[in-house]
Amino acid sequence: MYHRKWWHDKIMYQIYPKSFCDTNGDGIGDLRGIISKLDYLKDLGADVLWLSPIYKSPLADEGYDISDYYAIDPRFGTMADMDELIAEAKKRDMFVLMDLVANHCSDEHAWFRKACEDPDGPYGQYFYIRGAGADGGRPTNWRSYFGGPAWDLLPGHTDQYYLHVFHKKQPDLNWENPKVREEIFANVNWWLDKGLGGFRIDAIMNIKKPAELHDYEPNRTDGLSPLTHMLEEAGDIGPFLTELKEETFAKHDAFTVGEVCGPDPVSLQAYIGEDGYFSSIFDFEENTFGRTPNGYYDWQRCTPEDYKQCVFRAQARAGSIGFLSNIIENHDEPRGVNRYLPDGERTETAKKALACAYFLLRGIPFIYQGQEIGMENKVFRSASEIRDVGALGEYETAKRAGCSEEEALRAISAYSRDNTRTPMQWSDAPHAGFTTGTPWIEENENYREINAEKALKDPDSLLYFYRKLAALRKAPAFKDTLVYGRMTPYLPEEKNLLAYVRESVGKDELPDLTCPTPRLLVAVNMQKEAREIPLPGKAARVLLSNLPVSDGAADGRARLKGWQAAVWEFE
Ligand code: GLC
Ligand code: CA
Repeated sequence: MYHRKWWHDKIMYQIYPKSFCDTNGDGIGDLRGIISKLDYLKDLGADVLWLSPIYKSPLADEGYDISDYYAIDPRFGTMADMDELIAEAKKRDMFVLMDLVANHCSDEHAWFRKACEDPDGPYGQYFYIRGAGADGGRPTNWRSYFGGPAWDLLPGHTDQYYLHVFHKKQPDLNWENPKVREEIFANVNWWLDKGLGGFRIDAIMNIKKPAELHDYEPNRTDGLSPLTHMLEEAGDIGPFLTELKEETFAKHDAFTVGEVCGPDPVSLQAYIGEDGYFSSIFDFEENTFGRTPNGYYDWQRCTPEDYKQCVFRAQARAGSIGFLSNIIENHDEPRGVNRYLPDGERTETAKKALACAYFLLRGIPFIYQGQEIGMENKVFRSASEIRDVGALGEYETAKRAGCSEEEALRAISAYSRDNTRTPMQWSDAPHAGFTTGTPWIEENENYREINAEKALKDPDSLLYFYRKLAALRKAPAFKDTLVYGRMTPYLPEEKNLLAYVRESVGKDELPDLTCPTPRLLVAVNMQKEAREIPLPGKAARVLLSNLPVSDGAADGRARLKGWQAAVWEFE
């Protein structure tokens, strides 16, 4: 049974503020830039805007290293700008989410400074600080997510180390210390009181560490072990997540989406069930496909058929337990159109097909900035063009594993997070209309062909297709089916056909249902060859399609051209 929540029928849009829109010519996107684009976002159909971090930060990991949780970084604007953004969004019936980065802070945060001054004092307890390990070196042999050891010497000391599972400028906070939790909860509530809609919750699965920190089996020639072992041993994270929710989100009816990878159905209930820790978690099934512990250079590409299998697996696992958040990309991933569409087939039609495939799944659709105009990966000519600390670590890993510089560059170009961090392409003006100055990261050179201004002039563009998808999901006649309805794979054995039926639940599942809701078929032909399929019933009409298509009512068959996507309504 479902109880309607305010966020169930919303469409989410992720903004990477640093690269979205710069209004003062310093080459860095800012809050005023976001305010200036609210109408563009509203017209697209976005209801909820998730902002990657804008707190005060040295930007070592682009804001995921916070030095003051109560301040806006001056490069992004002022607190007054933030208040204005929330208010302007509200005027348009839109909500703002911030990024809650609480596994770690910045090494420039006052807490860490005080911990360095006096590791035995109260702030020493805010972090994981340990003496040397048995061999006189680092306390354990853990490898950080960005490569290299997860421990570094505590600044000012020669015999004490601190833990950072990400970059060395991101010391891990010690959640076992109630003072730390109190500080975090107070901050979350402070922001929610300002009128935020909620939070996207960063790297949250890392907050629980084992009681005893020790070495694990190394898996590479660097002698280090991956953090997966430590996380497996860490024990139940549930009490922390329950407390976080009860002390903060629940009191404000906030929407929360966790960065949580693949829990099994039993834990899914705990995460996103009716009383789950979070409103939703991201589905990472597709973008984690083909990964191996060796690193980028060893990852396997996701074919359209793999993509389909991933989608079906994730949807089956979530079933009606709760709402997954569906994405094709985010600020940590390459562009979805590069990852999921085969080289040589990345046309506007195929981009629409991919959009249709994921957007109408059961769950909450997220659009990442630039996705709506079909932005693509950037071509990197040398490793010196890469800024992403994660990709730079992967470059070293690839070379250590025996890749040539060229091979290593190819690997990091395919997966670097910089691919989605290049400036939003607003127009064909210099620097894609993102800034009048020099952008902090170079724009993708294809901005003359791919930009929002051009897309807005063409009623047939991908941008308008996204608008139609958003409108369809919100249309009173289809909303209950598309938001609450079941998702059943259709002809799943047909290779490269991603098709599913969306069928509404009944009154017992959605008690306030007043009339029967329609049954829909979403069919996407994920290949360049045409195909014909039977329709699952008598088609009433085609609601949406990326190429002209007949309704198939006469003979009950659908003829799909290469990369055609269409949505049918049945009688
Ligand atoms: C999350 C963020 C990523 C960041 C990391 C550390 O994965 O999405 O951008 O580097 O956490 O905060
Ligand atoms: Ca700026």
